[in-house]
Amino acid sequence: MDLLIDVFGYLSIIIHGLTILSQSMALGGALFLVLLARPLAPRLGHPGVGNPRGGQIEIASGTARIAGYAALALLLSEAATIALQAAVLMDTVDLSFREALTADFAVAGLVKTAAAASMALVLLGWRERAPTVPLLALSVIELAAATLTTHAAARLDSRGWLLAVEGLHQLGAAIWIGGIPCFLLALARVRDGAAFRLVGARFSRMSMAGVACILVSGITMSLLYIGSWQGFYGTAFGVMVGAKIGMFLMLLALGGMNFLLVERLRSDPTTSINRLRRFAEVEFGIGIAIFFAAASLTSVPPAVDLTQDRVSWQEIVERNTPEWPRMSSPDHDVLALPALQAKLDAEAAAKKAAPQVAFIPGAGELPPRNADDIAWSEYNHHWAAVFVIAVGLLALLNRAGLRWARHWPLVFLGLAVFLFFRSDPEVWPMGEEGFFDSLRDVEVLQHRFFVLLIVVFAFFEWRVRATNWTGRSAALVFPLLCAAGGTMLLTHSHAIANVKDQLLIELTHTPLALAGIAAGWARWLEIKLNPRENPVVWQIAGWVWPVCILFCGLLLLGYREA
Ligand code: HEM
Repeated sequence: MDLLIDVFGYLSIIIHGLTILSQSMALGGALFLVLLARPLAPRLGHPGVGNPRGGQIEIASGTARIAGYAALALLLSEAATIALQAAVLMDTVDLSFREALTADFAVAGLVKTAAAASMALVLLGWRERAPTVPLLALSVIELAAATLTTHAAARLDSRGWLLAVEGLHQLGAAIWIGGIPCFLLALARVRDGAAFRLVGARFSRMSMAGVACILVSGITMSLLYIGSWQGFYGTAFGVMVGAKIGMFLMLLALGGMNFLLVERLRSDPTTSINRLRRFAEVEFGIGIAIFFAAASLTSVPPAVDLTQDRVSWQEIVERNTPEWPRMSSPDHDVLALPALQAKLDAEAAAKKAAPQVAFIPGAGELPPRNADDIAWSEYNHHWAAVFVIAVGLLALLNRAGLRWARHWPLVFLGLAVFLFFRSDPEVWPMGEEGFFDSLRDVEVLQHRFFVLLIVVFAFFEWRVRATNWTGRSAALVFPLLCAAGGTMLLTHSHAIANVKDQLLIELTHTPLALAGIAAGWARWLEIKLNPRENPVVWQIAGWVWPVCILFCGLLLLGYREA
């Protein structure tokens, strides 16, 4: 159980991110069916006439299927959330399972689960004929229950207001981001320009309504939960809302360009819609990253509640004032944990007793840290910067035409080996803790995950670039894993007791994560856009991702922990 409590924090963020994603796709799909797929069906091409696969039915039944399976995924993720929280509650406050299920979060969760199960039944049972009123009623019940698991539920003042605003926010997320998979399905099923325009224009209007819901509620919640500039940059809550606003602006730019393309379809129905689809794919990808940022956001206290331990602007300026990078490392033995273990071993030897273990991963305690541990970590980040800057420069040179620079992904393999050895000095191969034991430590687990991610995307990208591996899907591995790495970095936290130090580190990680997400989706666009149809956008995408990688390297070079 200690391990569960230790990983609870990280696990609950991941599960909550999946819950928000599946909720948005279930509600977004249901609304897409009721507001677009069914009402527009008679005008989206007729069975047999130039469209053997019967576009009108395919879109509605496909939409019902997407929303139905999303409702099933919501059922599972919400059940996992209840089980996880109940297990931790039973262990920490000694309650029975039945008693734990009477807690507010569990009751709201059970209502969400029941609503999700009923939605899945209606959507997968009736498909395109799913009855509108019950479907919308279940969606409202699900959304209302979801707001009862947010920060608003715990507020004493303006609680009703905030619950409504939270609901509006999640509704906006569902209409816009949650509806995109059904929009992509519809674009894949219709055949002529007029139908594209019909689907594009209706979904643009729905997305605009979603954007308006998100913006009004987002600003309201920011005013009520953050309340000041210092709350914005000086707390983890504020910084994560900042990351969301950054990604929101990226989405607005993409959505705006798609709106213009749909308008162009009015005057020229032959306009290619390839860019519309590609931008919608990227919007969905960035939307998923926002969902995980929202999940991470709701796992920390609102900024207004954190009046102590805020980081001041002065501290941020001081920590980010450039200094010469640390290119020499302290010895492994002087690090806090090896030093403590050596001391315990010596004491035990003196008493002829069995040596005590200095730190047990997953036992709910933080490992000791001293100034050398900070120096060790800074050294790691600065050398990682050298690798990443080399990758960015070589990728730019390759883009500029230097052929041998196409081997740049191999530099990432060097980075992976470096991080494998050095990112967690207390565990194998440098430290005492065994490889499998160390996986009980969430931070080590996340570092190992990042190393594996780097190895996989480096191998695939090198094969694509240097050995002309032509598989389209192989070329998509690097952008997808790059974007996934950036998204996971948004949920990454360091096991450090000091709240201020944790935030000062997060202030470096957040722009790194955003640059990783931007690099991944820019490379995705470069691969999937047709350069003849969209030469300018294709060119821009091709330069954006290596510049983002270079930016990550420069950020790492300025990384400091003290
Ligand atoms: C596409 C853009 C966005 C999406 C998809 C989105 C989605 C979400 C979701 C699903 C949640 C609820 C998480 C939960 O409690 O379960 C949330 C929370 C939040 N969002 Fe957004 N959001 C977006 C943009 C924004 C923007 C632009 C702002 C600020 C102006 C914002 C401010 C907030 C705040 C303050 C919360 C925290 C609520 C709480 O702690 O209970 N969001 N967001």
